[in-house]
Amino acid sequence: MNTGTFPIRLIATLTTALLLSALANAQPAPNPFPTLEALGEALFHDTNLSLQRTQSCATCHAADAAFIDSRTQGVGGAVSVGDDDQALGIRNAPTLMYALYAPPFHAMAPGVYRGGQFHDGRARSLPNQVNLNGGPFLNPDEMRMPSRAAVIARVRENADYVDALQRFFGPQIFAREQQAFSRLGHTIAAFERTQAFHPFSAHYDAVMGQEATFTPLEQAGFDLFHSRETGCLRCHDSTAVTGPSRQTFTNYRYYNLGVPMHTAVRDARQDDSPDPGLAANQFLSSPAAAQLGRFKVPTLRNVAVTAPYFHNGLAHDLATVLKLHSHRGARDSVLHTLNPETGLAWGTTDYPENVDFAALAMPKPLSDPEIDALIAFLHTLTDAAFVRP
Ligand code: HEC
Ligand code: HEC
Repeated sequence: MNTGTFPIRLIATLTTALLLSALANAQPAPNPFPTLEALGEALFHDTNLSLQRTQSCATCHAADAAFIDSRTQGVGGAVSVGDDDQALGIRNAPTLMYALYAPPFHAMAPGVYRGGQFHDGRARSLPNQVNLNGGPFLNPDEMRMPSRAAVIARVRENADYVDALQRFFGPQIFAREQQAFSRLGHTIAAFERTQAFHPFSAHYDAVMGQEATFTPLEQAGFDLFHSRETGCLRCHDSTAVTGPSRQTFTNYRYYNLGVPMHTAVRDARQDDSPDPGLAANQFLSSPAAAQLGRFKVPTLRNVAVTAPYFHNGLAHDLATVLKLHSHRGARDSVLHTLNPETGLAWGTTDYPENVDFAALAMPKPLSDPEIDALIAFLHTLTDAAFVRP
């Protein structure tokens, strides 16, 4: 046995081990945001990006609640409360599920608009929804930051954000505030396009994939939904935009359903102004008056878990929503003349002269059993993650 080489070998091994561990220590911890989507998710959930550091996007779009505002403040959850715990918005926070499928806002023909983000389509796309003036960061009713520069300063407080943003967009990203801010929009939008926002995992999808079957009531609702009598597909059909396999149940167009004003919200805000809806959209290429009171057709995916309904959060039950559709559609009907939630007449709508009666037209009002069946069908549109046993 050659004893002479033993200590030398040992020393060599030890030295290598020491060197390796020193190298490992010198290496910075891996950045927690390996992808743009992961960074977007963190920004989406970061309350430091609001004025008092109390509110993030997720406050009003909660991941476990199909990305709606599930808080009960704000006149029973009809509208959202801002970062100061006081400011009230005028509209209900929509689900962000499937929002990625809305095409960019555009005119299909003179006076006929489609797509965009928000109830009035004033943001062309998801990144633009974050970046535009009046977007959530700077909105005085929401995250209430004073300026884009202030938002970027908050982002820069976090070394991991800075590192990741420089890696994704180049070392110069912070040289121009405007550009850095617009990159935030792209980053958050990347998260909003991930699988979690469009799993197509509802019972409906299983039935379409022939892996499950509808109950008789669900089937009756499906048939009614697709019938000419109800006309639901005139507005709640995305095939022309997304193709049949990605049905999101909205044609992304704009209609005035004559939704009654939410007087309790107006009282709470001490502001009686009507909501012009699409008419206030800055991209209109035709006279705005014709668009007064029109709002984007919402997706019906996950609708059973995204109450309250309508742009102003007026209705808490799907039955109420369908009774209003029926009341407007079957104009002379004696059925459904009262709001079932209040027991009172429906109440005034902002722009009665513009209600789209023709598009809503139903030859006869929906009966109560028909409403039950439609509701059973709507319940089949809830994605697996949000189904409560
Ligand atoms: C205080 C509550 C609140 C916060 C915070 C908030 N939102 Fe919203 N969000 C709303 C409301 C209310 C609307 C509807 C406003 C409208 O249509 O005018 C909305 C609409 C949207 C839409 C349009 C969806 C569609 O289908 O039209 C997207 C996308 C969105 N928000 C994303 C975000 C992101 C991203 C953030 C964070 C940067 C954020 N929101 C922060 C309340 C909030
Ligand atoms: C003329 C187009 C049109 C037709 C036809 C139509 N809807 Fe709607 N629907 C809308 C619009 C627009 C809204 C949103 C109105 C608002 O917020 O002011 C809406 C809202 C809804 C909502 C509430 C969704 C939410 O998140 O607020 C449900 C549920 C719904 N419709 C189901 C149906 C069913 C079921 C039918 C067939 C009986 C139908 N709709 C027929 C245009 C239509």
